Amino acid sequence: MRNFDEHNITNAAIDSVREARSPRIKEISESLIRHLHDFVRDIEPTQAEWKHAIDFLTRAGQMCSATRQEFILLSDTLGVSMLVDAINHRLPSGATETTVLGPFHVAHAPEVANGAMISRAEEGPPLLIAGSVRNLQGMPIADAVVDIWHADDAGFYDVQKDETALSSRARVRTDAGGNFHVFGVVPAAYPIPNDGPVGNMLESQGRHPYRPAHVHFIVAAPGHVTLVTHLFLQDSEYLDSDVVFGTKDSLIEALNVAPAELAARGPKPQESMAMLQRNFVLADALDPRKPQRQLI
Ligand SMILES: [Fe+2]
Repeated sequence: MRNFDEHNITNAAIDSVREARSPRIKEISESLIRHLHDFVRDIEPTQAEWKHAIDFLTRAGQMCSATRQEFILLSDTLGVSMLVDAINHRLPSGATETTVLGPFHVAHAPEVANGAMISRAEEGPPLLIAGSVRNLQGMPIADAVVDIWHADDAGFYDVQKDETALSSRARVRTDAGGNFHVFGVVPAAYPIPNDGPVGNMLESQGRHPYRPAHVHFIVAAPGHVTLVTHLFLQDSEYLDSDVVFGTKDSLIEALNVAPAELAARGPKPQESMAMLQRNFVLADALDPRKPQRQLI
C-alpha cells in the first residue's frame, strides 16, 4: 500500500476497513470514506479552506458542555437531524408525526401531578397544556409518561439561564382516561444559540437562526413507539423558515381559551387563559419477534 494519488486513494482507504469488527461498521466506514472523498473532489478545497474546516469542527467540539451541544445544532441546521428522524419514524398513518429532539432536553425532569404549575410566574403569560394519549384504535393509554419542555416568553430555556434551577419542564402521567394537563407559559419563537461556530456558519450562509414558537413533548408508554415531537403555535413567526427544518403542518395548533373550570385551578384564576391542546396517537411497538438490524 503505497504510491497513492487522487485517483486510487479512495479505493485504498475503503480497502483498509475490510477487517472491521462488524459488517455494520464496515458498511458505514466504506460509505463515509466514499462520500467524503467525493465531497472533497467536488469542492476541491485549498489547504487554507481545509484548515478552516478542521478549525470549525474543533471550535464546535470546544463549545460543547453539559448544557450546550454544538454538534446537535450543526446536525439540526444542516437538516440531518430531521433526515435521521424521518428514516427512523416511518409510522403508520394516524400516528402523531415526529420532529427533532433539539438540544435542550433534560433527562429525568421532575415528575409532577396533573394540574401542576411547571413554570415560574415571571416566565410569561400562563398556558394550559392539555391533551390525551391514545393508540391507533383510539383507545386511551393510561399511565403514559408525557415529558414536556418549552422556552419562556423571551425565548429562553431554563438551562440557558441557570444550569441548576429547572423550569418549564416536567414529566406528567396520563390518568385512567388517558388525559393529562399542566400549566406552563406561552413560549416565544427563539434563535438557536448562535454565538458559536454554528451561528457563524448560519450568518455566512445568509440564514437567520430562528425557530417558530413550540412546546416539546416525548410521549412514552409500554408496547408503543416512543413519540418525540413538538406542537408549534399557529400564530408564530418562522413557521415557514424553521432553521432546523422541524415544522410540519400536522403539528401546528392554534391557542384556544382554556375552559373556565380548568383555568380557575391555574396560577391566575381570575383571568382567561390560553390553552394548547392535542390528542397524541402512538403507534404500536414493533413486533419483538421481528429481527432487528445488528447494532454496532
Ligand atoms: Fe425548542
